[in-house]
Amino acid sequence: MRLIFLGAPGAGKGTQASKISEKYNLPHISTGDILRNNIKQGTELGMQAKAFIDAGQLVPDEVVINIAGARIKESDCSNGFILDGFPRTVAQAEALDIVTSIDAVINIAVDPTLIVNRITGRRMCVCGESFHVSMGIGKTCTKCGAELYQRDDDKEETVVARMEVYDKQTAPLIQFYGKKGLIRDVNGNALMADVTNEISKVIDDYNKN
Ligand code: AP5
Ligand code: MG
Repeated sequence: MRLIFLGAPGAGKGTQASKISEKYNLPHISTGDILRNNIKQGTELGMQAKAFIDAGQLVPDEVVINIAGARIKESDCSNGFILDGFPRTVAQAEALDIVTSIDAVINIAVDPTLIVNRITGRRMCVCGESFHVSMGIGKTCTKCGAELYQRDDDKEETVVARMEVYDKQTAPLIQFYGKKGLIRDVNGNALMADVTNEISKVIDDYNKN
């Protein structure tokens, strides 16, 4: 299945993509994780992206279109994938349409009042797993053992900028994919396990038909 997880910052895209990836054996492709790993390694791409990410702005379309396009061509994506955080503009969605078709867009809707707390309390791992301080977490990732860190763009002022960018540039994708009949709405305010169940139901229903 070729899936897109759409949602505001902090909606739970990464959290759910990680769980659904394991459950259905689909590669989890997060353009945000790829960019952050490039920043960490000090690559040219990372250096180009850092200023945009730190300001809560989108990295230019052509850069992320190349990253995502190359990644979905890899052999592990031949039976499907989960795109987390891509596409994020109509131009990116149009570019994706040229290289592949999409089976469903999981739109994780979350109450904006929950977002700042979710994001400022988040702790990340290089493996892509994310946690929240309210979970009573330790210093290391329960999945791979690496040390957890706080993202540079997870400060309150940057989160506000990211929410504005989402409303202006990414939310129009709900209409874009709605017109194609691909949007599946999921309640992102619910408990994590309930959100996972709701997404699983969408996938199971799709596979039955
Ligand atoms: P990206 O990394 O994609 O960030 P984002 O879209 O802002 O989304 P987040 O990762 O902040 O939220 P999430 O929905 O994954 O939430 P999570 O599951 O972690 O992008 C970062 C930057 O990279 C962008 O700003 C941009 O600059 C650049 N970029 C990336 N892709 C790009 C593209 N395509 N085009 C251009 N630029 C691009 O959950 C958040 C917290 O909430 C966690 O602590 C989690 O434990 C908790 N939580 C999750 N679900 C629940 C729940 N149900 N109940 C309670 N807590 C929950
Ligand atoms: Mg994420």
